[in-house]
Amino acid sequence: MGLRNIRLYPDPVLRVECQDVEAFDEDLEELVHDMVATMYDAPGIGLAAPQVGVTRRVAVVDVGSDTDEQSLLVLVNPEIVQTSDITSVESEGCLSIPEFSEKVKRPEEVRVHASDVTGEEFEIEASGLCARAIQHELDHLDGVLFVDHLKGLRRERARRHLKRLQSYARTSDESGAS
Ligand code: NI
Repeated sequence: MGLRNIRLYPDPVLRVECQDVEAFDEDLEELVHDMVATMYDAPGIGLAAPQVGVTRRVAVVDVGSDTDEQSLLVLVNPEIVQTSDITSVESEGCLSIPEFSEKVKRPEEVRVHASDVTGEEFEIEASGLCARAIQHELDHLDGVLFVDHLKGLRRERARRHLKRLQSYARTSDESGAS
């Protein structure tokens, strides 16, 4: 168990539609444990399994302070079952897209159905930053990145940044760096 490498754009694993978790076993427990450790280490407020190279529907979110142990959310096979009509526009970033943030419009509140690491199903309602983080992480499970939601000038800015990340990745490949 331990920290896992965070996959960076343009790693193709970030574009995969992830599969449901079927076995609530030790492998899942280890994956969740490692994802939580990797998220806190980054540090980030959320992480999805494909970001550590695992194409299963698992996400972790923690938007609370580090003294609040209740703020950790482990979402296995999560589904958004309801969203509010009210939206908000706030800045977002992603551990897989370094050094870039942009404002994204999303529903302000969501209701999510998911299983915990033991397979027990539950439903939660979230709003504000927590709702935003959940939506961002659940997008990852469908191969969607936050930059995909951008339009106009914001999209153009993102496109230029992604191009830089792409050429950086190519340069690293050519130099044989691991
Ligand atoms: Ni992300």
